[in-house]
Parts: sequence; structure tokens; C-alpha cells
Amino acid sequence: NMRVLLLFGLVAIALADVTRFEGEKVFRLKPVLDEHVTLIKELAKSIEVDFWSPDSAELVTIDIDVDIRVPAIYLDIVYTILQQNDIEHEVLIEDLQAAVDGQADNKPTPRTHSYTKYNNWDKVQSWIASISSSNPSLISKQVIGNTYEGRPMTVLKLGKKSGSTKPAIFMDCGIHAREWISPAFCQWFVKEALSTYGSDSQMTSLLDQMDVFVLPVFNIDGYDYTHKSNRMWRKTRSRRSGSSCIGADPNRNFNAGWCTIGASSNPCSDTFCGYTPESEIEAKNVADFIRRNKSIIKSYITIHSYSQLLLFPYSYTYELAAHHSELLKVAEGASAALRSLYGTRYTSGPGATTIYPAAGGSDDWAYDLGVKYSYTFELRDTGRYGFLLPESQIKPTCEETMLAVKYIAAYVQKNL
Ligand code: ARG
Ligand code: ZN
Repeated sequence: NMRVLLLFGLVAIALADVTRFEGEKVFRLKPVLDEHVTLIKELAKSIEVDFWSPDSAELVTIDIDVDIRVPAIYLDIVYTILQQNDIEHEVLIEDLQAAVDGQADNKPTPRTHSYTKYNNWDKVQSWIASISSSNPSLISKQVIGNTYEGRPMTVLKLGKKSGSTKPAIFMDCGIHAREWISPAFCQWFVKEALSTYGSDSQMTSLLDQMDVFVLPVFNIDGYDYTHKSNRMWRKTRSRRSGSSCIGADPNRNFNAGWCTIGASSNPCSDTFCGYTPESEIEAKNVADFIRRNKSIIKSYITIHSYSQLLLFPYSYTYELAAHHSELLKVAEGASAALRSLYGTRYTSGPGATTIYPAAGGSDDWAYDLGVKYSYTFELRDTGRYGFLLPESQIKPTCEETMLAVKYIAAYVQKNL
């Protein structure tokens, strides 16, 4: 049957475009000597290693856990180097393709949007359209610009309509394409806000007094690419003549100590800071929106994964933020609230000392603009699944994170 053959042919072509990860492993290395650090950095130069944590080879230091993804063809070299030099290590993920395949729970994939699944961009986009028309008195939407590939970046505004301008919180998800739990949280947050307004006294008072702007997916082009072509993509998808490497790290592209530390000026690096601050249109669109609304935005919250951290400025310098002790106190309160549900432990502190110094982040930029309560969440887990957190963990992760975000929101509201 010709039609069946043709169909198989088309499917084969479609599949051929998808990067597969058979036999790849994710290692956790524990460098305890300067020599180990040097070796890891050299290894990263000579073979293709994908840094999961920290985000790049430059950020490797002594006494931190280093999670790296190693393609199958390099496994022998890596094992040899680790063994010859006595670098302590464990295998976090035995077979990455199996982990990619295991991420989705094995119920049949629904055709529609689901809060407990990782929705692709098409589903998120239609969800944005339907949820924003579902409850016109509590939610509205506005497009803040298009992505590099032309997709609309829509911000949802949650809050009881009021005659006067209200103070606001801005939250974004999905700056990094492969951190799929992050957009899942923004969707969950919107659903919870709408469904608990009127019954939950804190949510009711929050949305009566304030607006919450939610950008469900910041790096839409990258997110779409992780669904269609390469699950491990991190950056945007912008192109420049003169380089065959695609994209920049949107969280190194903001104008906060831009490209001075913990970022790369190499367009091929996963932490490429871009050609100029806000060279990535997605970063510019968000920065423009926050600048335009800077008098009302009191808090900036950005959701990443993984590591279970609640970070605040600064990351581009070791100097403490002017509001350090208050930011720390709120972060610790939020972490305690989060932990109260399922016992999940978070570490809080300034980015530079809590993970690593890295300039050009949206959190530091918003803070220096005057948005005092600026927080970066690194959601579950601590490395068992990393970016491939199973769908069965979406619900508990979102539930516990809600408590932390609501804690921050309540504090901001009390201190307007
Ligand atoms: N993992 C995140 C990143 O590297 C952490 C961001 C913390 N903030 C920062 N400005 N570096 O992008
Ligand atoms: Zn991230």
C-alpha cells in the first residue's frame, strides 16, 4: 500500500531530525583538588560535554558537585580520566534516552492541555487563549513582543479589575528551554490563582490589592525546539551571520555586569552572553515591559530548574545587596513554607555564593532597576532526574512551590 509506505517515509524523516541520546550518561563529579578542577575543564575543552550543573566549565570549582552529560562515544575517555586521577564520581543517569522516554507518565498523551503533563508550545498557546477569555474579571492578556522566530510573547495579568493602578508582581517561566518544570509551574500558578480566588483568603486579598503578571514561557523558540528537535537545548534560537552557532543564554543577556563573569563570549557556548546586552529579542521584550511598568512592579520572580535553591541578588558580584538581610529572611520563610508540604529542602542565599557568580541575569538586572524583591527559584530535583523530572512530580513540585511564591507575595503585599 503506497499510502502506508509514504506515511512511514514521512515519519522516518520526522524522526531523523530528532536528537537521540542512546547510551549517553549523566555523571556527578566531586572535585576535591585544584588538579581535579583543571582536569574537568580540560576535558570539557577536548570533548563535547554538556554541563547540567554548574552551567558551564568555567564555573567549576573545588568542592562542588559537577553534573555533566557525556555522549556515548566519549564514555571510555571519561572513565579513564576519572579513574586515573581518582576523581570521585557517580552515575546519575545510566541511559539518557531511557530517561527522556521515561519522563512522560505512561498514560496515553492527551490531545489537550494538562496541568500534570509537559505541554508543548502549541498546547500552551491555546491554553493562554482559552484561560484568558475564561474569566475576564480576573485575567487579561497582552503581547509584549515576538520571539526571534516570530512567536508572540503573551503576558497574563491576574488581578481583580480596579479603577486605579495597582502594585504588581512579575513572574516568568522558561527562560531556559530544557527546564520543563518551569513553564509547568507558571501554568499551575495561573490555574490556582483563578480557582482559589474567592475561597483562599490570601489569594483573594493578593489579587484584590495587587496584579500578578505571568509570562508562561520566556524562551518560546527554545522551548519549542526542545519538544521537536533537541530535548537538551538551553538557549534562544537566534542566528547571526558570521557564526554557525545558534542562540544565546537569555539569563546572561541582561544588562547587569553583562558578560563579566560566569558567562561566555563564545557564541557556541551554552552560556553565551549574546552580542550585546538585550541582543536577544526575548530579553529585550521582557526588559522593556518591566522598565515600562517599573513604578508598579514590586517583585520579580523567575523560575528555573534544577537544584532546589531560592536565590536573590547578587550573582554578578560577591558584594551583598543593599537589602541582603531582608531578602534572606523572606527567602528563608518561603523555603520553610515550601518544605512544610512534602519536606523538600531548599537552600537560599545570594546567587554568587550559593551557586556560582554569573553575570547578565534577569534577577540582578531587575533588582538594580529598583525591583527590590527579586528572586530566582531553582525547582526540583537535586540531580536524580535533573532536567528530566518525571511528570509524576509536576503536581507535588507545583503545590510546594505555590506555598513559597505565596509567602513572598504576602510579604511584598504587607510591605507595600
Ligand atoms: N541557574 C541559573 C543560571 O545560571 C541561576 C541564575 C541565578 N542568577 C543569576 N543572575 N546568575 O542562569
Ligand atoms: Zn535556568
